[in-house]
Amino acid sequence: MPKHVKDLALKGKKVFVRTDYNVPLDDKGQVTDDFRIRSSLPTIEYLLESGAAVILASHLGRPKGSVVPEMSLAPVVARLGELVQADVQFAPDCVGSRVTSMTEALKPGQVLLLENLRFHAAETDNDPEFSKQLAELADVYVNDAFGTAHRAHASNVGMTQHFEEKAAGFLLMKEIEFLVSAIEAPVRPFTVVMGGSKISGKIDLLKRLAEVADNILIGGGMAFTFLSAPPLNHSVGSSLVEEDRLQFAADVIDLCLTKGVNLVLPSDTIASTQIAEDTTGTEIPIRAFEDDLMGLDIGGRTVQSFESILEDSKTVLWNGPMGVFEMTPFENGTKAIAEKLCKITEQGATTIVGGGDSAAALSKFGLDGCVTHTSTGGGASLELLSGIALPAFEALKGAK
Ligand code: 3PG
Repeated sequence: MPKHVKDLALKGKKVFVRTDYNVPLDDKGQVTDDFRIRSSLPTIEYLLESGAAVILASHLGRPKGSVVPEMSLAPVVARLGELVQADVQFAPDCVGSRVTSMTEALKPGQVLLLENLRFHAAETDNDPEFSKQLAELADVYVNDAFGTAHRAHASNVGMTQHFEEKAAGFLLMKEIEFLVSAIEAPVRPFTVVMGGSKISGKIDLLKRLAEVADNILIGGGMAFTFLSAPPLNHSVGSSLVEEDRLQFAADVIDLCLTKGVNLVLPSDTIASTQIAEDTTGTEIPIRAFEDDLMGLDIGGRTVQSFESILEDSKTVLWNGPMGVFEMTPFENGTKAIAEKLCKITEQGATTIVGGGDSAAALSKFGLDGCVTHTSTGGGASLELLSGIALPAFEALKGAK
């Protein structure tokens, strides 16, 4: 394991902290979901209390090496200023003479956020010279950007080799501990709720889960590829089916049978001819699809069967919504699962929500914070759960 930030000598030091402030903004440039910003506070507060000066750096969006004003981190400074009990300054860039002067002038107890790292293509290129320039700004390096840990960029991999003193922050450590222990040593029964539109992108994860879970409950668009695959061969109307993943889905069904994993697919669905807010969904059994209908949420019987399995589960991992939860006619399945997770958490189960859409669903239903752990990383949590090493975490283990 790399060092924890608590293992470092910090008094009087300038500490570079890689955070993930890739947050959604509205058309007025306001932060619409500050979960990632709030999640970075324990590390920032710890550093300030320890007498360090804090240099924060992040990317926002994918500006591809150009200065895109809509992707400035300025809105994040405004929100950070409200959340942190300290003076928060903002640098107009992340490298260069102006930034160097600002970091040199930074005092213990002060915070400086650098402008979007990805305004320089050198960041995503993991450029050695850019990595060195970033490293020269600070004495100590801390990575707390779990959401970006599956990328190998200058600010989270390249620059780490320039530091004797480097560590993972509270958020990065917490994410790794929760996600790794869920999949490697779950208290059983261990149930996985998988959803989202596609199997693609979750291939490695599904294979691994079929080896370790007791129950796998599948909803969302991906359920229709499973339902269409042999040996089930259901007709699913116009629902999303990934033709090139049918064999993979059949293999997962087979693997679950061999391993004794209880794989549960929807028995009914909320179907419609269109994906629209003002449409009405009709509840139909899976065997009753007409050609023009698409399944857009799980139906009531499926919700009940998922709920009864969740009721007896001691560890639950939820990755991906059960339907098009962003639209009222198709939100019920996802909402019911989110509510059930909250209930079993109160009863003592450990419930973990992968980042991305499932976390957004919790937020939409006002259920933030009611599960044991909500990950701040979508892609990063998928890779970690799939057993893929995260380059940014690995880089913290290396010597200077
Ligand atoms: C995310 O939101 O998943 C992370 O911030 C990583 O962003 P990226 O996919 O643009 O690298």
